[in-house]
Amino acid sequence: MLYKMILLLVLYMMKMTYSEHGKTNVMIDTDTVIETVSDRFLSVTLDTSFIQNNWATLNFSSPKVQVLAKALSPCYLRVGGSSADYLQFDPSSQSESYQKVPKEFILTDRINKKLTNFTMIARQWDELNGFAEMVGWDLIFDLNSLLRQNGQWLPDNAKLLMDYTSQKGYKIVGWELGNEPDVYKDVGINITGAQRAKDYSILHSLLNHYPQWRNGIVIGPSVTMLVKEISRKYLQDFVDAGGPDIVTNPTFHHYYDYGPSMTVPKFMAPDILSNLPWQINVAKKIAPFPLYGKFWLGETSSAWGGGAAGLSDRYVAGFMWLDKLGISASLGVDVVVRQTFYGGSYGLIDTKTSNPNPDFWLSYLYKKLVGRSVFNVTMDDNKGYVRMYTHCTNTLRSDYKPGSITVYGMNLRPEPTTVVFTQFKPDVKLHLYLLEPVGVDSLKSQTVALNGRTLSLNPDFSLPSMDYPEVVTSNFTFPQQSFGFIVIPEANVAACKVSS
Ligand SMILES: *[C@@H]1O[C@H](CO)[C@@H](O)[C@H](O)[C@H]1NC(C)=O
Ligand SMILES: *[C@@H]1O[C@H](CO)[C@@H](O)[C@H](O)[C@H]1NC(C)=O
Ligand SMILES: *[C@@H]1O[C@H](CO)[C@@H](O)[C@H](O)[C@H]1NC(C)=O
Repeated sequence: MLYKMILLLVLYMMKMTYSEHGKTNVMIDTDTVIETVSDRFLSVTLDTSFIQNNWATLNFSSPKVQVLAKALSPCYLRVGGSSADYLQFDPSSQSESYQKVPKEFILTDRINKKLTNFTMIARQWDELNGFAEMVGWDLIFDLNSLLRQNGQWLPDNAKLLMDYTSQKGYKIVGWELGNEPDVYKDVGINITGAQRAKDYSILHSLLNHYPQWRNGIVIGPSVTMLVKEISRKYLQDFVDAGGPDIVTNPTFHHYYDYGPSMTVPKFMAPDILSNLPWQINVAKKIAPFPLYGKFWLGETSSAWGGGAAGLSDRYVAGFMWLDKLGISASLGVDVVVRQTFYGGSYGLIDTKTSNPNPDFWLSYLYKKLVGRSVFNVTMDDNKGYVRMYTHCTNTLRSDYKPGSITVYGMNLRPEPTTVVFTQFKPDVKLHLYLLEPVGVDSLKSQTVALNGRTLSLNPDFSLPSMDYPEVVTSNFTFPQQSFGFIVIPEANVAACKVSS
């Protein structure tokens, strides 16, 4: 009996100490908009290898695929990747003369990539453009930069594609040239950053012949691995040679790690998540805004090499994705292009069922609730386990009134924390949209619930309503190892009244 009483006392004391630590004060500087992001801030990719494989299992006519794509509009669709540097357009070919690549080469590790040249026929280009138009996406196409003569990019095939596109009246909003040239040496090719800048000026001259693209988007140089000195130097050489005078938005690609070496703890490690702000700041130092355009994360996901099997398509992937969106917006990245809408383990939709993966729901909610104006947030959690970001609420896609703000973020701790917004009056209403995993797989679950209700498409493939926030007063308990959104409709922030 005494033993039991002591145990209870100890437990009680532990709870006391815990509740002192289990509180996070959050301060939002709503007086100053620190950044304004694109209205297509959250965008997606499709890997060019899908053209090479004649779309593989992706069915543009599938009602599910169409509904899910429309849900993310407005959005850029960047079609690119390593295979882009092996594609040639041939409008005269009617047959399906594309060269099928063995399945194992689709979205594999870029270092081991054994890519082969292939042809994109008119039908495939028509299908892609038809789909983009139907779902309201703006297409950005990555051109083959390895078609070369005397050390220069040879634009003939690009001209053929542009003439055809122009004649068909397809709305391409932007172009890109090549993919990850800083790692071309892995496949035995060496094109310097300065030469890549010259290649872009050839593209610029070509685009000048088409009024609809003269002032369009041009992204590049699509470097990756900014953690490596050699890649930073590549970007620097591109900048020094005038590259960013031509590209409207400089880009780099970002992945936290290599797919097969990912683990659940890595997806939730503050030091790994903090690798991104370092890279963005490095990039901005090399090509500062407003001297040059704002950076895009031109292709980005949790892990490269097709993602981490059984992780990148699970609940746990949301920590990296949501944190990446928050960090990027706060540091002035204009667009974050998610690898990928479809394909690999990091697809927003499952390739077997075409059902949404957890990151689809996260992206959809993000688009509904998060607006363009970004505020600075400070927390008294300096270890980086509670991570919060704040924008004006998106009043175009939600019913919230102007002046509302949306806070979003995560609690990486293994215990709940009480989040207190110290600047608001004690009876302020908080509208919670908490996403949590469903079932025994917990963090590795492929099913997610919003405020306790499992999310899935309706039987007729329409999207479920998400308009059922849990309304609380003053503060809320952020469950352990979870993420979500908090709308404060009464925040009455002046900067959020002028625009969303
Ligand atoms: C693609 O989806 C459509 C509409 O559901 C269906 O009729 C068609 O059979 C599908 N095509 C393939 C190859 O599965
Ligand atoms: C955000 O707030 C922190 C802490 O007050 C400050 O150090 C930082 O400079 C602020 N950032 C911006 C972009 O204002
Ligand atoms: C949270 O709010 C409740 C009232 O809703 C209040 O009683 C409690 O003291 C608050 N907790 C903290 C940590 O501020």
